[in-house]
Amino acid sequence: MKVLVVYASTDGHSRKIARSVTGQIADSGHAVEMLPAVDSEGVDIGQYDRVALIGSLHGGHYQRHLSDFAADNSDALNELNSIFLSVSLTAAGHDADDWTGLEKVLSEFIDATGWKPTDVLQVAGAYVPSKYDIFRRFVMRRIIAAKDPDANLDQDKEYTDWLALHEFIDTWLASTRLTSAPIKQLVAAP
Ligand SMILES: Cc1cc2nc3c(=O)[nH]c(=O)nc-3n(C[C@H](O)[C@H](O)[C@H](O)COP(=O)(O)O)c2cc1C
Repeated sequence: MKVLVVYASTDGHSRKIARSVTGQIADSGHAVEMLPAVDSEGVDIGQYDRVALIGSLHGGHYQRHLSDFAADNSDALNELNSIFLSVSLTAAGHDADDWTGLEKVLSEFIDATGWKPTDVLQVAGAYVPSKYDIFRRFVMRRIIAAKDPDANLDQDKEYTDWLALHEFIDTWLASTRLTSAPIKQLVAAP
């Protein structure tokens, strides 16, 4: 199989996830290409068997380059088995209202782009104060203090469950399904 991994990342964690997923796909014996959404203009989706999109939430929205890629290529993407890895800190928690908000953002993204991913995985992201400017550090400290009282607010922290992520990718690669309604699965905090 020939697989395309398209990602957008503001602080680097979705890029790390994209690299890990790309490595896993290659190790499984498939041809794979990894492409930043910002450089994806003109890519021919028709030459791939499967496509994975990866992006993260910032202020309730995914990166513009990722939405543009999904919208520009929705028809071609809807013809094959494609997945969306939605990275956020909401997915690191268990608050029901937060999760309802996450589902709403996802459904708005699907409506806005016209892309109907075969599967969606909500992936817990990372808190990276080492990369934030003063304003973002202030905002994120308050969010993490409320969400994870045990966290050291001065230290970077990953919430991603890598094992669950890799199991999801293995299942995807093994599946023979073409397209279907999105099935949401959760990756919670380890
Ligand atoms: C300024 C800022 C805004 C964020 N907004 C949200 C948000 O609205 N919802 C959410 O669940 N996570 C939010 N996050 C958490 C990010 O989605 C998380 O840190 C993710 O790992 C970032 O991925 P990236 O490094 O690929 O950009 C925000 C993070 C920052 C720094």
